[in-house]
Amino acid sequence: MTYSESDSKYKRYTITSALPYANGPVHIGHLAGVYVPADIYARYLRLCGEDVIFIGGSDEHGVPITIKARKEGVSPQQVVDRYHEIIRSSFEQLGISFDIYSRTSSAEHHRTAADYFKKLYDKGVFVKRSSKQYYDEEAGQFLADRYITGTCPHCGNEHAYGDQCEACGTSLAATDLINPHSTLSGNPPVMRETEHWYLPLDRDQEWLSRWILEEHKSDWKVNVYGQCKSWIDAGLQPRAVTRDLDWGVKVPIEGADGKVLYVWFNAPIGYISFTKQLKGADWEQWWKADDTKLVHFIGKDNIVFHCIIFPAMLKADGSYILPANVPANEFLNLEGNKISTSRNWAVWLHEYLQELPGKQDVLRYTLCANAPETKDNDFTWKDFQLKNNSELVAILGNFVNRTLVLTHKFFGGKVPEAELDERDAATLKEMAGYPERIGRAIERYTFREALSEMMNLARLGNRYLTETEPWKQIKQQPDRAAASLYVSLQVCASLAIVCEPFLPFTASKLSAMIGLDKQGGDTPLWRKAAECLLPAGHAIQTPELLFEQIADETIAAQVAKLEAAKQANEAAAWKPAPVKHDIVFDDFTKLDLRVGTVLECSRVPKADKLLLFRIDDGMGGRTIVSGIAKYYTDPSQLVGRQVCFIANLPPRKLKGVESQGMILSAEDKDGRLVLLTPDSLVAQGVNIG
Ligand code: 2FM
Ligand code: ZN
Repeated sequence: MTYSESDSKYKRYTITSALPYANGPVHIGHLAGVYVPADIYARYLRLCGEDVIFIGGSDEHGVPITIKARKEGVSPQQVVDRYHEIIRSSFEQLGISFDIYSRTSSAEHHRTAADYFKKLYDKGVFVKRSSKQYYDEEAGQFLADRYITGTCPHCGNEHAYGDQCEACGTSLAATDLINPHSTLSGNPPVMRETEHWYLPLDRDQEWLSRWILEEHKSDWKVNVYGQCKSWIDAGLQPRAVTRDLDWGVKVPIEGADGKVLYVWFNAPIGYISFTKQLKGADWEQWWKADDTKLVHFIGKDNIVFHCIIFPAMLKADGSYILPANVPANEFLNLEGNKISTSRNWAVWLHEYLQELPGKQDVLRYTLCANAPETKDNDFTWKDFQLKNNSELVAILGNFVNRTLVLTHKFFGGKVPEAELDERDAATLKEMAGYPERIGRAIERYTFREALSEMMNLARLGNRYLTETEPWKQIKQQPDRAAASLYVSLQVCASLAIVCEPFLPFTASKLSAMIGLDKQGGDTPLWRKAAECLLPAGHAIQTPELLFEQIADETIAAQVAKLEAAKQANEAAAWKPAPVKHDIVFDDFTKLDLRVGTVLECSRVPKADKLLLFRIDDGMGGRTIVSGIAKYYTDPSQLVGRQVCFIANLPPRKLKGVESQGMILSAEDKDGRLVLLTPDSLVAQGVNIG
């Protein structure tokens, strides 16, 4: 039983979450955008007593998977087997409560997707078109855009892909590339005629426009509506739904050898095939009954596929319902930069679970609190620590712990009998308003607001407990202390229910500690969260802390890991500087380069970067100041070392010291300066040349 009038017509909920590509693990961007909100929604509806299926699974087709397999010298199946398992198990450990987490390489999926295509084909939905596409004659296959590289016509990058130049970010068509090459054979590809089947979206323009732009103007999110509107306003075009590729669901008709379903035609059918796997013969009502509410949770890059293309496919079949909502999120950034798989700029879920064990709810909390619901948002480790230490520990954890510890101390671990005064009753009344307020926010897909309301309930408890001071009252007015703990315990019980969608591990721990019976009765648990659930005399367990402080070192280790990723990226991107203009030999001979030995070396006072060298140059000695202090932290170690220097530069004052030359060093790709030293000992002052 939900709160929105508009939802009362629904008897069941089909909740889908985007199927992640099984070519890498999932990161916090995926979680904040899709899986945490979807899980909150599914868990909430279950607590409301609704009939829910929450569908997830891996998207195991598409060109990037075949490219990864080729690079690693393994089969695409081996790639998806590896990542499917990593993704599945990390979702499970984070408490993402899928009713099924399947995969598009499953036989049931292949069958369902092929049948889907065949039905539309038999109905005459598709149009067949021929077009010219790049073909690799040596490899004997058509080339997906990612399999072609060449020079970007915009920035001159010689390694641009056929769909995008990663140097300047421009979207490209393979035919835009200058000097294109196949990544399979390295040869220039040729143009060859090929035929494909197209979904004629132009014919859907009218009803899609009515359905989205009119019927869903007020209930779909502004960002989702806006993206749909710009697609529709631009005029919908037919989209090819087949590809020349050997990894995928084979096109199930005569004369389609070597062709598979386009990954974006194929993947959303996964939601249907997984429902079949979950529900068997009973699957249809979850997709075809008007009293089923279908909701797709996705990231913003998937909007067109879920709001326009998949609905057009569903409508073309004719027997399916359409999504009631597609609450897509924007993107989450990490420490101010775009999350990037290729640059390893990410917090990977499977690594988080290993490195911060037992902290699933902290991540869920932080990601929900920072969910990019209306605009891109940022995750920082500092904020993660703050949310844990000042909110979860200091508010929720502290309130529950104080309540349970005091109940044990003063009332033997039993809920005390209580006579309520006005403030007690008002607090319980306020508590009773929270389940509805939180529920309504979840039903509007405003999960951040819902989470903050849940914390407001903990704040209410915390404030009430502080103000009623049972630790003082126990001596003067024990009845007041009893009432205070009675009320606080009821708030704890309410929290144990309403925090579950957001913090399922905490909810179980708290429910076990207070011995909350979550079973039975006709009233859904969520509604019961408004009531006093712990009767006087009810025994509670010994309390344990719900959350622990996260130390600065833990955060520093994560930040250092990101810093290492950044440095590795910079090193990988490093190229030698271009060679300068030619000089004549005389220019070179003008330089007087010599070798000398370091007699003394010390820091220049008040100058972080500078070292002061006294050099034996075989000519009476000289002083040279050099900006390498950052890289040689113990100057005394340089004494006795032979160095190379320019001997005929005019003297120059640096921080008040006259420098009579310049010591030669090489700048490494990370910016580090390294002194140059002769291969073996030579006389002081010899020439270099
Ligand atoms: O963007 C992606 O990661 C896609 N694999 C999402 C597919 S969602 C659905 F259509 F299956
Ligand atoms: Zn470019």
